[in-house]
Amino acid sequence: MARVLIRGGRVLDPSLDLDDTLDLLIEDGRIAGLGRGLSDDGAEVVDAAGAWVAPGFVDAHAHLREPGQEYKEDLASGGNAAVAGGFTQVACMANTDPVNDDPSVTMYILDRAEKDSPARIRPIAAATRGLKGQVMTEMMALREAGAVAFSDDGATIMDAGVMRRVLQYSKLAGAPVIVHAEDCHLRGAGVVNEGPVSTRLGLPGNPCVAEEVLVARDLRLAAITGAHLHVAHVSTAGAVALIRRAREEGVRVTAEATPHHLTLTDEATTGYDTSTRVAPPLRSARDVDALRQGLAEGVIDVIATDHAPHASYEKEVEFTEAPPGMLGLETALAVVLELVREVRLTPLELIRRLSTNPARLLGLEGGSLAVGASADVVLVDPERVWTYDPSLGFSKSRNSPWAGATLTGRVAATFVAGRLVYQYERGVSLR
Ligand code: DOR
Ligand code: ZN
Repeated sequence: MARVLIRGGRVLDPSLDLDDTLDLLIEDGRIAGLGRGLSDDGAEVVDAAGAWVAPGFVDAHAHLREPGQEYKEDLASGGNAAVAGGFTQVACMANTDPVNDDPSVTMYILDRAEKDSPARIRPIAAATRGLKGQVMTEMMALREAGAVAFSDDGATIMDAGVMRRVLQYSKLAGAPVIVHAEDCHLRGAGVVNEGPVSTRLGLPGNPCVAEEVLVARDLRLAAITGAHLHVAHVSTAGAVALIRRAREEGVRVTAEATPHHLTLTDEATTGYDTSTRVAPPLRSARDVDALRQGLAEGVIDVIATDHAPHASYEKEVEFTEAPPGMLGLETALAVVLELVREVRLTPLELIRRLSTNPARLLGLEGGSLAVGASADVVLVDPERVWTYDPSLGFSKSRNSPWAGATLTGRVAATFVAGRLVYQYERGVSLR
């Protein structure tokens, strides 16, 4: 398929501020034309009437578990789950086994991904050795090996002196530091949001302030170092307010929210469903509303999945014993389309947060359908109603609170470098 004409779709390209019904021509892996009535001479034609045509989504935060935990996920299953969810690029977190704290691990991931994954995989390297928060990694060497950012995600660097140095070095390496903001002392053994729900359930609570003290600390450290801080999975109203103020003061900060923190509250945990145990925990309706407001304003500029697969036997235990995390790649789009239906975001602004902004955050080509750009393209059927069954999905794991749910909106097809890498069977037809 050297030439593909995607005809008559609603083209949404935030990089061009474009929202219009147009044809898109792909040639030799690149966008070759964007306009009306483009010739289909020698091209495979995709009828995209009624569909959205957008730059491939970029997930700035996923756990793909390879190397070391391939029973949960690997670069093949995670990469296939990604393209089924419309993600053409995925940044994978460093909490693998071994930890991605050495260039050899970064290169291993890139090498495997090249062979196994239909999505482009962008490794995030650890900021400290073994994610222990004490000794910095060789950040320059990791960057040269291909790391796109630094993060101890899953753990927080509790030593502010270490965090300050990490931020300083990240500037030299030219990549952001992604913080998992959770003060481990304030969190204690907390497994759900601290509040009426944790009391009712009799489960240890994790307070909002555990996130907010760390966000406040790291915003100050970003301010004095001038480094680029990216706050992962923001979950509290207080954290949104802190980030908003720091932005106004000129701090180089970006932030992400997950589909689950944007749409579910701690009420979802009342059935003790361990798939709702995540770190940070699902919060109150007030927090969810503040996140949506922050996302609409652009204070939160990225939607990232925090796709965190875990095996069924690990999740089928007491709530307090279950590892935190839920799947995200295959449901993200359908879940966040709720924000468009509730008129919190226009389709174009949603695509900006799923594609253009995360590409920019990580310094990647992508997030654009401009002529000459790599043809990483997603077709979305925003009205399609479907039932999510994780056992029919691409991920090796099944830990999703949306298992069995009826969702509206689905990825119809995904192209990476002009190659059709995913197609929903009853979606668009290629002729
Ligand atoms: O829910 C989460 N799961 N949060 C994290 O920080 C880690 C992740 C995982 O690795 O499972
Ligand atoms: Zn994570």
